Order: sequence, then C-alpha cells, then structure tokens
Amino acid sequence: MLKLNWFYSLEVSQVDLYKAQSQRFSGTYESIVFERTAVVEQEHVDKIAALIRTFGREPYKIGDVISPLFGGLLGRILAFSGLEKTLQANILIENKAMADYVALLQQVGEDFGDELLTVLQHNLVDEDVHTAWFTERLADYILLDLKD
Ligand SMILES: [Fe+2]
Ligand SMILES: [Fe+2]
Repeated sequence: MLKLNWFYSLEVSQVDLYKAQSQRFSGTYESIVFERTAVVEQEHVDKIAALIRTFGREPYKIGDVISPLFGGLLGRILAFSGLEKTLQANILIENKAMADYVALLQQVGEDFGDELLTVLQHNLVDEDVHTAWFTERLADYILLDLKD
C-alpha cells in the first residue's frame, strides 16, 4: 500500500510539473505536449487512487517524491528555464517511474489480480511513450543547436 501511495504521490507531482511546464512554454508545440501529458498523468492518479480505494484505504501524498531525484532541489527543477534541461528532468523522472513500475510488477506477480496488473502495465506503457517523445525531442533540440 505504501508503494501505491508512493506512485500516487509521484503521479500527482507529475501532473503539477507538466502543467507548470505547459504554462512556461506557452505558445509552443511543446506546451501542448506537456498539457496532454499532464492529462495522461491525471488518469494515472485517478486509476491508482481507485486501486488504493479497492483495498479499503484512502490515497494520500507521502510528501515530495520528485525532489530526491534531483538531490532535494525541486525549486531548481521548476526554475529550469530552457527546453533542454526541462526535457532532461522529465526523462529522469519518467525513467524512475518506469523502473519502479517494472519492479512492482515483478514483485506482485499474478497474486493481486488483473486490475492491479493492468493499471501498472498501462501506466508503464504511457511513461515509456512519454520518455520516447521527450528523448526524441531532446535529440532534435541538441542537433539543431549544433547546427547554429
Ligand atoms: Fe504517470
Ligand atoms: Fe509519464
């Protein structure tokens, strides 16, 4: 249950982060991508919250789970002004989410029923797709930068 609350906290943080990034890059294509990504992360929040409730518990945020990925400097992540740093931060967060979804999937095996497995698998695939887009965009950005 603690692990599900950890995912719940991570997904809530990602909704906030991608919404903030959408605002910061307002007027760009990336802004729309961040906005739509936040919608998918909200879906993850809702599904994990529903799962926690099927176990008879209420989801709660266990504090800031993103900052530790950056040595405790969330303010600095949110202050990342450029697209390159933003994409790098996002890739780091998505990679952490994927690693933890994979670990939990291995841990729960078939024991906890289809619903839990499906949510974990679907979330993992979504994070994989997000990572792929961020990575491709970052590669394009670096390539264009080199041409200048
Ligand atoms: Fe997510
Ligand atoms: Fe994601």
